[in-house]
Amino acid sequence: MDKRLVDIHDRTVSGRVFTDPDIFAREQATVFSQSWLYLGHRSQFKEKGDFIQAYAGTMPVLLCLDGEGGFNVFANVCSHRAARVCQQEYGNARKFVCPYHNWVFDNKGDLIGVPRRHSPEFDKSKWGLCKAAQVSVYRDLIFCTFSPAAAPLEDYLGDMKWYLDMLLDCNGGTEVSKGTHRSTVHCNWKIPAEQFGSDNWHFQAVHCSMGKLGRRNEDPNSEDSFHVWTDQGHILICIAPKQEVDTTYTLYLDKLAAEQRISEAQRKLLRCTLVITIFPNLSFVYFPGLCSIRVWNPRSPDQTELWSWALYHKDAPEQIKDLVRKQVTRLFSPTGMLEQDDLEVWSRLADNLKGMPPDFRLCYEFDADPEIKNRPFPGHTASLQSDIAALAFYKRWAEIIAHADGTP
Ligand code: FES
Ligand SMILES: [Fe+2]
Repeated sequence: MDKRLVDIHDRTVSGRVFTDPDIFAREQATVFSQSWLYLGHRSQFKEKGDFIQAYAGTMPVLLCLDGEGGFNVFANVCSHRAARVCQQEYGNARKFVCPYHNWVFDNKGDLIGVPRRHSPEFDKSKWGLCKAAQVSVYRDLIFCTFSPAAAPLEDYLGDMKWYLDMLLDCNGGTEVSKGTHRSTVHCNWKIPAEQFGSDNWHFQAVHCSMGKLGRRNEDPNSEDSFHVWTDQGHILICIAPKQEVDTTYTLYLDKLAAEQRISEAQRKLLRCTLVITIFPNLSFVYFPGLCSIRVWNPRSPDQTELWSWALYHKDAPEQIKDLVRKQVTRLFSPTGMLEQDDLEVWSRLADNLKGMPPDFRLCYEFDADPEIKNRPFPGHTASLQSDIAALAFYKRWAEIIAHADGTP
């Protein structure tokens, strides 16, 4: 591990981690080429031939459902002169015709046509689009990795699967809202990825207007509020409610528990606020009555494209789906009340970091309740009054980028 970037013993992180173009390039060649990356949700695919555009790190990709019902992921970048092969955000196609010189690719990424006479030596099979090494689905979430050596997706998700299962409804499955909320975030992708899984602290300060409106019901000091982190770098915040209030959504949860679709422990946690980052750049935010799934797509050291969707149970009543969509739009969309607060702060942090000398280091040593550890939940746990989950995220990041040659 490069101690100058992340120092686990001093519990500090270099400011360069968020600004340096060389580090940005290095993490694309390591973190983003070796990890499992979220690309899309199964509910975005209705028929064979459906496709969506996505990003795998900085690489524009197409995720396609082929004629045999398998998912394929390949670069949306032509192997001839690097034009975007497909311009549409989503659609249905058996083949893609590159607009620059009309090379034709099928929806598995293979080159199937070249509209000119070519030499007998020209071998089309060599010039398919750059393909992901593995594609896998976990409870409707579609991931890919460019590493043939990557462990299976379920192993990669590890202890965080238990928490995801609560959100992803083991029985009926989930679906996402139509269309994609997109916004440009003027900061490095790790600032929001870290905050979403490990920073409850900012809530009191940055989102204080919510409190003034009387719309806060969390108790970060409760015994039932805690952090989770895993060795894979996944991180989670659970904040218990100050008061158990019955709402349309919590009554829906009670019904799911009565039908034994969620356990009692899960029913209790689903009355909490849950904020999760699956390493490296997939996050969830859940309040009772709101769930948003979001990807922090890195574009440059100081620019990130946020793509997000509302997420709800597929067989939930229409009233519940509508409630979730509206809550997500109000709070966590480009015009959302909480999102606006965060975007403003993150862009200011990024500007400040650019102005600091290369030896500037950030403090991750806070750990106010070190004795309150290891609650009866999967993963490592700690009090919310601790930087330990954030540090676990950077520890994993630093372990991976240390192998700049791409070996896992
Ligand atoms: S760049 Fe695609 S055919 Fe030339
Ligand atoms: Fe926030």
